[in-house]
Amino acid sequence: MTKMTNCLMALLALGPMALGMGSAQAATATRAPFGQLADGTKVEAVTLTNGHGISARIMTLGATLQSLVVPDKAGNKADITLGYDNAQDYLSHPDYFGASVGRYANRIAKGKFTLDGKSYTLATNDGPNSLHGGLKGFDKRMWAIESVSSGPEASVTLAYTSADGEEGFPGELKVTATYSLNEDNTLRLQYKATTSKPTVLNLTNHSYFNLSGNDARDVMGNMVTLHAARFTPVDATLIPTGERRAVAGTPFDFRTPHRVGDRIRDGRDQQIRYGRGYDHNFIVDGAAGTLRPAAVVEDPVSGRVMQISVTAPGIQFYTGNFLDGTFFGKNSRAYRQGDAICLEPGVFPDSPNHPDFPTARLNPGQTYTNTIVYKFSAK
Ligand code: BGC
Repeated sequence: MTKMTNCLMALLALGPMALGMGSAQAATATRAPFGQLADGTKVEAVTLTNGHGISARIMTLGATLQSLVVPDKAGNKADITLGYDNAQDYLSHPDYFGASVGRYANRIAKGKFTLDGKSYTLATNDGPNSLHGGLKGFDKRMWAIESVSSGPEASVTLAYTSADGEEGFPGELKVTATYSLNEDNTLRLQYKATTSKPTVLNLTNHSYFNLSGNDARDVMGNMVTLHAARFTPVDATLIPTGERRAVAGTPFDFRTPHRVGDRIRDGRDQQIRYGRGYDHNFIVDGAAGTLRPAAVVEDPVSGRVMQISVTAPGIQFYTGNFLDGTFFGKNSRAYRQGDAICLEPGVFPDSPNHPDFPTARLNPGQTYTNTIVYKFSAK
């Protein structure tokens, strides 16, 4: 047999994917070391790859989506998430890039809440408030790889057990994060948790998306749709006032696609002033608990489109307003205001102090879930 025939036979043995014909069974998961932290702790990463050029790397520090490579309309692949090239930087300059955030993503006013008549005090790490789980939240913890699988869907499950009283929250909380990538260009992320005592929680992923990828333009020209007729206005410290305000006639109306930059400087709206732009929880239309469309982000230049569906009642839309150019991320690039879009599905901020908001409570015997589905395409 000629060399050429040998090669062809080998390709046929590998199946249709090797021939670039597409396949229902092409997604793979590979596990590899991802360096170590300054204290010597070894970090690992699992990379999920499908047959259409999408790959997601998840590292054990913070169950973090460390990179997400997606092709543009010409098929050029680029990482569309902000972050760092090595694990220690995620601890040295914490900004929750790609991280799994908990126990309570977003803010709790003055770091205080009561549950069943008992008061709890959390660290205040964001002005007067508690933000994203406190001083050492889930983003700064080492998660264990529980399972890894390849197949029609490649997936990894990471687990973390948070001790009773950790960061001031009651109950031992057992948490898992499962990332799955399929051949339909869908990345699915599901958080689950159980508790030993009644507690409150809000787990989410804090990826900073910039669909331009390696071009690294800012996101002002991205088109955003938010399936939300109402949002929760905030005070000057970004704590919800309790109101659910209609977006109609405000810079918060993204029910049809709008350029991010069009209204982001419109200081006639006090909410834009408080947020320095967008940093608000939108109330996702439809019934919480069922998976439904929440957001679409389109980059007209690269053609990349990301659709997000959620089970959560709300989604925080944040435009990287606190990125100040002092952080240098992947490829030594400075990150500045407006360089990314965060869309963080969860319960509303400060829910433990708002009895009429969807509950953040979890009781023993119940299983908490939060499912986020990201679907990618290019046009
Ligand atoms: C918050 C921002 C905060 C950022 C930190 C977002 O979820 O809404 O106010 O600065 O997280 O990375």
